[in-house]
Amino acid sequence: MKKKGLLAMFERFSSGQFPQFKSLWTEDKETSHEPGLQTTSTAAPEAAMPVILNDNPNGIAVGLDVGSSKVVAVIGRLDTNRQIEVLGIGEALSEGLTRGSVSNLTKTTTAIKEALAAASKTTNLEINQVIANYSGVCNNLDQRGVIIREDMIRDIRAEDIIRLKKEMEGNPYPAGEQIVYLEPQHFIIDDEPDIRDPIGMSGQLFESDFHVITGEVTALSNLHKCVRQAGSGIKTIYPTAIASAEAVVCEEEKEEGIAVIDIGAAVTSIVVYKSGIMRYANTILLGGNSITADIKQFTGLSNKQAELLKKTYGSVLPEYSDPAEIIQYKILNGTKDRFISKVDLALIIQSRMEELIGAAYNDIVQALNGRSLTCGIVFTGGDSALQNLRKLGEQITGLKCHAGTPILHLKTDLFGARFAEKLNNPVYATSIGLLKMGLTKLV
Ligand SMILES: Nc1ncnc2c1ncn2[C@@H]1O[C@H](COP(=O)(O)OP(=O)(O)OP(=O)(O)O)[C@@H](O)[C@H]1O
Ligand SMILES: [Mg+2]
Repeated sequence: MKKKGLLAMFERFSSGQFPQFKSLWTEDKETSHEPGLQTTSTAAPEAAMPVILNDNPNGIAVGLDVGSSKVVAVIGRLDTNRQIEVLGIGEALSEGLTRGSVSNLTKTTTAIKEALAAASKTTNLEINQVIANYSGVCNNLDQRGVIIREDMIRDIRAEDIIRLKKEMEGNPYPAGEQIVYLEPQHFIIDDEPDIRDPIGMSGQLFESDFHVITGEVTALSNLHKCVRQAGSGIKTIYPTAIASAEAVVCEEEKEEGIAVIDIGAAVTSIVVYKSGIMRYANTILLGGNSITADIKQFTGLSNKQAELLKKTYGSVLPEYSDPAEIIQYKILNGTKDRFISKVDLALIIQSRMEELIGAAYNDIVQALNGRSLTCGIVFTGGDSALQNLRKLGEQITGLKCHAGTPILHLKTDLFGARFAEKLNNPVYATSIGLLKMGLTKLV
């Protein structure tokens, strides 16, 4: 019988012999002091006056992922080839969100402030504006917007689409809800339907069928408050899964049909694309914390220990675990050794993960309304790192599944030495996607 000492691992962890198990917090503080982080051409010396970053000057933007377990701020710009170049990252532990929304203003503000300060420090840019995410529950609606253009000969420009979008804000929405995001499905110009790209065309009656995502007014207002109190403003908010998709999915996949399932700590965010159009985005109030809680209940471990056990040995498929592999552990203040097999651990995780993927898949099927999802499902978020998730996803949905890492869409040569390894992780999909939206979305 092979024994693995969880306690021994904790000891190595706290003594620094096990660098990969250092907490996000510790890692952030350490890496931000690495001399290598100050060496790119964009990093100004310590004493230099910070450049104030307001409204995307010099094509720089900041993605701010306000998550339930961590807040991440990523600063970046587009290079001459329009590739995203990350200039700095700041992170902080987050303890002020419940069910994807702010439940403690002070804790959330503090976390945002710390993440922004850390990102600011590595780049010497003062952050006044961010692109942030909304992880609350959404409503999905299809609505038509109409404007009449006074000069029908003038080319249709981005401003006309912005005007159309503004018109939509005046529509009635369910009580307590407001638009978080809306995307034109197609345009209609003077009764000519199914126009995908209206820019440059002429016309008087300009219409669009929008897919509208609404969210809770109070949740959005609290998010704005926290960012404001942290010293910044929010330029745009995107639903979490839309941001994550932006980081890991390409336009061709959106055309063929693809869904992203972002499994975070407290929530699972979903988005579905088909024929190049976003069809559905929502949040399920179930995430990796529930898996950790199940492990905690079964083993008697503390939350922190259960989380470490999950991250170190967790798999979602017991049949791929060796029944002979037994993990030895001690509960807090416990004297006796306890044991759990890797198979039993996987059984606990599998049951909750099946519930989670099953719920997400139900939403996806409804959103597709009989249409196919040729490119299958991409998993992002922290719990997507669990072993064999792709296989379990395929068993449940019958679709191709894979893990999404944001590195695919990032420039790796210049900043590679600084950030590539760190960013090659599905937990950064949301923040990188937000950054990408900030840099590339005009309307
Ligand atoms: N290597 C890993 N293996 C398994 N689970 C992991 C791993 N790394 C992180 N997690 C889990 O991922 C979750 C955190 O993921 P993530 O950072 O995406 O959440 P978040 O964005 O802070 O929260 P949310 O999206 O729910 O608001 C936690 O449940 C954590 O236990
Ligand atoms: Mg998240």
